[in-house]
Amino acid sequence: MSEKTVAQAELQRQKNYAEMVHTVLSARISGEPKAFVHTYGCQGNVADSERIKGMLSEMGYTFTESEDEADLILFNTCAIREHAEDRVFGNVGALKSKKKKNPGCVIALCGCMMQQSQVAERIKNSYRFVDLVFGTHVVHKLPEMLYKVLCTGSRVFELPQSDGVIAEGLPVSRDSSFKAWLPIMYGCNNFCSYCIVPYVRGRERSRDPETVVSEARELVKQGYKEITLLGQNVNSYGKDLPNPISFSELLKRINDIEGDFIIRFMTSHPKDCTHELLDTMASCEKAARHLHLPFQSGNNRVLKEMNRRYTREKYLELVEYAKEKMPDISLTSDVIVGFPGETYEEFQDTVSLIREVGFTSLFTFIFSPREGTPAYSMDDPVSAEEKGKWFREMLKVQEEIAGERTAKLVGTTAKVLAEEQDEKGYVSGRTGGNVIIRFKCDNPEKVIGNFVNVKVTNALTWIVEGELISDN
Ligand code: SAH
Ligand code: SF4
Ligand code: F3S
Repeated sequence: MSEKTVAQAELQRQKNYAEMVHTVLSARISGEPKAFVHTYGCQGNVADSERIKGMLSEMGYTFTESEDEADLILFNTCAIREHAEDRVFGNVGALKSKKKKNPGCVIALCGCMMQQSQVAERIKNSYRFVDLVFGTHVVHKLPEMLYKVLCTGSRVFELPQSDGVIAEGLPVSRDSSFKAWLPIMYGCNNFCSYCIVPYVRGRERSRDPETVVSEARELVKQGYKEITLLGQNVNSYGKDLPNPISFSELLKRINDIEGDFIIRFMTSHPKDCTHELLDTMASCEKAARHLHLPFQSGNNRVLKEMNRRYTREKYLELVEYAKEKMPDISLTSDVIVGFPGETYEEFQDTVSLIREVGFTSLFTFIFSPREGTPAYSMDDPVSAEEKGKWFREMLKVQEEIAGERTAKLVGTTAKVLAEEQDEKGYVSGRTGGNVIIRFKCDNPEKVIGNFVNVKVTNALTWIVEGELISDN
């Protein structure tokens, strides 16, 4: 077991605290104590929140969607862009009146944003009604921290700087009964010059492959139909282990688990994406034909300034190889517009790359300066207004391409995991390529959570509509 793994004795100590919290709450609150947990940011945060909720369940909490009836309000925050942070500050500010009405309600903040010292200071000084603030490296200590808040009534700030830990064996309360997030590694070593993640999430650390595979096996046994493997850069999985193994190998081992389920994974970093991985994907029948491969910029000078450590040519070569091995592969990506010093001509290289690859969809962002990162202090002469124009230009191109791509799906049949029903009665899910597909169905309660075959009949730019053929 790696030295980064939290000792079982410590986890047992936390279990004891969980029981003590339970006792305190039973004495104070008539009926079951209720927690409102809201998660911002990426799937990594969602997976953390599922563990937080697991621990809260052990402490006797049930969950509510209403802040007004909550005895505990917890926000798991994201620091990726300024806009994300502003939203959190706004929503935290709104809790002041709730705390006034119900002083017994504990207000807690955690996640990436809190791991930045200037944010924690601001909360400490200007948001005095916040009771508990904890960072990304002490999530497993929630029972102890909550116990302190409940018993002393004083504010608790637990924000150690660390390269990060791995806490195995925490209880998990999953949001879905058929789709599961499975973190395979934490942290990031890449230090892309614009990005805050390595500063708030610590260094890359991989979970033990046996543990990951047995969690996957357990999920399949429980009836989960889709497992998404998570990491900031899954392609570097296993390199830090005492017995290194590759992501391809892990993928194969999970693919070998018996059962009817699909495997997705994110995020792949182009610098570590290998032909071996693409070959493995092609040979694993359970791996969805979808690759999320963020390119960020199509211009080599900008990529270098971003510290991405690949070139446009290398990216396009990978895409070509992936298409050759998996002609039906669906590619999606992340893009940043308006990186400091980017010119309109350089931005055009991003547009041409988008056209060349033909992405199914894109997550598009305007550069947001993050304090503490190298790009924060780079010269940034282009106005926000100008960047907005470029951004809209890019969206138009992508809309055109997405429309062409979805049109090509008409007439094909997709194996779809039915996920939910909307107000208009459509059931929706996603194709293997991660395109949302909706269809009418007489017995939604029977199909939701199961695979169905759907024939695509109509394309609507970003999503498609279809007809249910069979319950698979
Ligand atoms: N680990 C993943 C990305 C995680 S963050 C990868 O390397 O691909 C998700 C996306 O947010 C990034 O891909 C990037 O496009 C965007 N992003 C990160 N920092 C940003 C910033 N400072 N401004 C704008 N977008 C940013
Ligand atoms: Fe951020 Fe780069 Fe790490 Fe992705 S790989 S999380 S963009 S530093
Ligand atoms: Fe946000 Fe942290 Fe994820 S900054 S995107 S929640 S790793």
